Amino acid sequence: MPKTPSAGKNEARVEYAIRQQLAVPFVYPVWFTRDLFDAANPTLRAVLERDARPEPHRALAVLDAGLVSAYPALPERVTAYGAAHADVLNWVVPPVQWPGGEAAKNDCARVWRLVDLIVEKRMCRHSFVVIVGGGAVLDAAGFAAALVHRGMRVIRVPSTTLAQNDAGVGVKNGLNGVGGKNAIGTFHPPYAVLNDFALLSHLPFIHWIGGVAEAFKVALIKSAPFFRECCARAARYRDHDAAALEDLIVRCAEFHLAHIRANGDPFETGRARPLDFGHWAAHKLEVMSGFRISHGEAVATGLLLDAIYASHQGWLAVRHVTALRDALHTIGFPLVYPELQQRAADGSLALLGGLDDFREHLGGALCVTFPRGLGRKQEVQEIDRVLMQRAVEQLVSAAG
Ligand SMILES: NC(=O)c1ccc[n+]([C@@H]2O[C@H](COP(=O)([O-])OP(=O)(O)OC[C@H]3O[C@@H](n4cnc5c(N)ncnc54)[C@H](O)[C@@H]3O)[C@@H](O)[C@H]2O)c1
Ligand SMILES: [Zn+2]
Repeated sequence: MPKTPSAGKNEARVEYAIRQQLAVPFVYPVWFTRDLFDAANPTLRAVLERDARPEPHRALAVLDAGLVSAYPALPERVTAYGAAHADVLNWVVPPVQWPGGEAAKNDCARVWRLVDLIVEKRMCRHSFVVIVGGGAVLDAAGFAAALVHRGMRVIRVPSTTLAQNDAGVGVKNGLNGVGGKNAIGTFHPPYAVLNDFALLSHLPFIHWIGGVAEAFKVALIKSAPFFRECCARAARYRDHDAAALEDLIVRCAEFHLAHIRANGDPFETGRARPLDFGHWAAHKLEVMSGFRISHGEAVATGLLLDAIYASHQGWLAVRHVTALRDALHTIGFPLVYPELQQRAADGSLALLGGLDDFREHLGGALCVTFPRGLGRKQEVQEIDRVLMQRAVEQLVSAAG
């Protein structure tokens, strides 16, 4: 056997060195459709048929309970879809409901109940877990599915704008734990993502516009033309213009997916997290408010805050910050919350603790994404807290 010579002094005791390297391509479709569970819609069937088998695929559906209360016919339609396509799909139990919203991610016991059910029904790792819901239910039930048999096939059916253009199209799941928001979770790429535009018609206003904040996020750091277009269409998003919103969802999902595909770090081994632009403050606001402030609302405020800070640093022209603020205001984001001015015990703004939380989440060193010119980004390792505090004051006075 060839002996690999040891290189440096630290390797002096290594007698053999074998280098292992794996490259695993993950391929999953992100399709946009309308009325997925209409028996005449072949989309879900087509996904299952990618793996042709003599027996129907065993599958279990998890439905966001908040979605079901807005759309009570859904469980029955899901069941009926299985009956209409019984040659390829076998629901092993009636649809399971999972309480929606952030509370979905605080309930470890529910994760284990789903794990137990999947095992009890003798589903294998080639069986399917079809999750229909907002980002929180996708995260929590997706985490359970990622644990059984070291990862089952997950088909995500995101049901909010934010889940369709951001939370539901990526490769992560998550639960909240003692370490805070998303403290627990795995990377588990889905088998497919099926975005059903018809589900959006049931959304309350705040979750209808939630995904628009994430679109501004990618626009500010990735595309000046997309930013201008989002600003120009602000009133249409507010006025429930479905065509404008659907176009925004597709474009934003494309940017999001292209980023995950092309930046060379889908499982976030490095420190940079461009898709978390504006999120250090957003996550802190959500937690400080006990999740009264939704993720989308918090992101809108977080973006505006970091854009103001960027303008103080000379990285972003003031006119772009004004355009952002006006657009977010027109769309209907409240932007200002009492939590922004809450003080910590040492008298500093409690919000700034979000920077420390973010640093810990990244593994010890801070790396925050900011725009550097409209549509371009940079990573910043240090934040001037005095300047950031001034940015908070400006946000409160200008947007309030
Ligand atoms: N995994 C990721 O990569 C990733 C990325 C971004 C965000 N997230 C997570 O996503 C979550 C936010 O997701 P969200 O904005 O979709 O909100 P959400 O999941 O909290 O859902 C918002 C509310 O809408 C209800 N609902 C869902 N679909 C509905 C519909 N069609 N009609 C009526 N009501 C409906 C839910 O029951 C809930 O009450 C956060 O927990 C965030 O951390 C995850
Ligand atoms: Zn987000």
